[in-house]
Amino acid sequence: MSTFWIGTGWKMNKTVAETRRYVADLKTRLPSELGSDYALFVIPPFTALAAAREAIGAAPVLLGAQNMHWAEAGAYTGEISAPMLKEFEVDLVELGHSERREYFGETDATINLKVKAALRHGFRPLLCVGDSAEERAAGASAEAVVRQVRLAFAGLTKADFSRCLVAYEPIWAIGESGVPASPDEAKGVHVALHAALKELGAPKVPVLYGGSVNLENAEALASEVAIDGLFVGRAAWSAEGFASLIAKVMAARKRAGLARAEVMHAIG
Ligand code: 13P
Repeated sequence: MSTFWIGTGWKMNKTVAETRRYVADLKTRLPSELGSDYALFVIPPFTALAAAREAIGAAPVLLGAQNMHWAEAGAYTGEISAPMLKEFEVDLVELGHSERREYFGETDATINLKVKAALRHGFRPLLCVGDSAEERAAGASAEAVVRQVRLAFAGLTKADFSRCLVAYEPIWAIGESGVPASPDEAKGVHVALHAALKELGAPKVPVLYGGSVNLENAEALASEVAIDGLFVGRAAWSAEGFASLIAKVMAARKRAGLARAEVMHAIG
């Protein structure tokens, strides 16, 4: 079976003390056998990275950061660079989340610079792309996110792509007022993203789904062959919630007996 990714981004939530408690709790709830079939990750705020790294220890949980500047150092007040993240042995860096695009002026061009900087420093970029409600209403969801992927990944080599991840996070599906994408709708966009990635020479880049993933819809989403992982917010902000989601997904995928070979076959 191919690797299925399950991770959670905490956004602007959790102190150092809360992070320690969360990770300790999660470790007691992790399934004993993950093997290479599953990759788990948590993405705390910058201030909790050191505590998270220490608390994770040897547990099979990757650590991510929520953003990163593209420059090595310099006059960028309030920003965090790749060498700074290196000190916490961060595995992946989330880039281009729609909240960053909307509230902090991130553009496709700066995201491209950040993707390249993350790769230069040996991190896995987790590129987030998403369509707005307007784009969705106009039937332009796939077009919008494919454009974001092309611009964010412009200039990358084949070797670079082997370390990239994409998360499809419809803006209309994220957060308290979000409505989760149906597995069918998500599938349509994932198939388009896989096709675009193939065209870019990156057919193996995993595409995760994010946006109101919860205990009710996780199984159906994880059973879609074009969905390579789930990127979860609120439903995984308690260790119990995250562990329950992991267990649900594992059970669903076991039942469905999905394999990467089938995914590749399904998308041609
Ligand atoms: P929710 O799961 O809370 O909708 O958040 C999704 C998200 O933005 C993950 O990055």
